[in-house]
Amino acid sequence: MNSEDVAGVLAQTLKYVGAFAGKTVVVKIGGSTLGSHDTTLEDLVTLQRIGLIPVVVHGGGATISTWLRRIGAEPRFAGGLRVTDPETMEVVLMTLAGKVNKELVAQVQALGGQAVGFSGIDGGLLQGRRRSETLGLVGTVTAVRLGLVHVVMASGFIPLIAPIAIGEGGEALNLNADTAAAEIAVALRAEKLVFLTDVPGIKGADGILIPQMTARRARELIEVGVISGGMVPKTEACLRGLDGVSRCHIIDGRVAHALIRELFTDSGVGTMITDGD
Ligand SMILES: Nc1ncnc2c1ncn2[C@@H]1O[C@H](COP(=O)(O)OP(=O)(O)OP(=O)(O)O)[C@@H](O)[C@H]1O
Ligand SMILES: [Mg+2]
Repeated sequence: MNSEDVAGVLAQTLKYVGAFAGKTVVVKIGGSTLGSHDTTLEDLVTLQRIGLIPVVVHGGGATISTWLRRIGAEPRFAGGLRVTDPETMEVVLMTLAGKVNKELVAQVQALGGQAVGFSGIDGGLLQGRRRSETLGLVGTVTAVRLGLVHVVMASGFIPLIAPIAIGEGGEALNLNADTAAAEIAVALRAEKLVFLTDVPGIKGADGILIPQMTARRARELIEVGVISGGMVPKTEACLRGLDGVSRCHIIDGRVAHALIRELFTDSGVGTMITDGD
């Protein structure tokens, strides 16, 4: 089946089920999974073809680290978040809002989709303030102004958002992309929030995938360090997402058509975190 056929089948499905009619899906794509075998961008274009415009937030940690090293700076992390001094912030702005964002838009366009790329600074989308002294210019989101997202979607374009916030003094603040995706999803009251990453989902201490867990269990696994590194902000973003989103999933972006499988089949992939104990 080519992608036109896939779109046809999905259009039928939607006609009968109406599953996502009038609803929004927020997708976070990890910079690291977007290699040559990743089909996520194809899936996003397929969704657009059937009239379901996804809202996309992208990461790009690997690209930021590469460019930091090129200028002789060493990437530093604390609790899965990038310690962001002013020099690092310049690189974050140039890579995330520049190279990574524009390359993604270009790829979506090349696949026949229509996308507009911007950052959380544009239209004042993501308002923030500094999260802590130690992390430097890392932001926590204080307000979300969806105006630009609505305009872009109403015009039929996929919004592709770089996770940067604007501080009270107009300064740019670095956001973890998972955090940004969760805040946007909650503001949109999205039907689903899907995190695509480079592992099958959340793994337990034994290294085996945990398909479903409660919010409480997720907090425990962070506490004991089974969930570590970049999975900490991702899991916390899932927990935040539960404030306004019906379902939050962490899935493997390396699996072919993982996003379409997640949205349109019953075969659950990855980890779903549910509210409660
Ligand atoms: N319990 C766990 N289960 C699965 N992965 C884990 C766990 N604890 C830590 N990790 C790590 O979290 C990583 C995923 O987070 P990471 O921030 O690196 O990727 P990403 O968010 O998809 O990409 P980006 O940060 O570029 O947007 C995995 O590659 C894995 O090394
Ligand atoms: Mg990450």
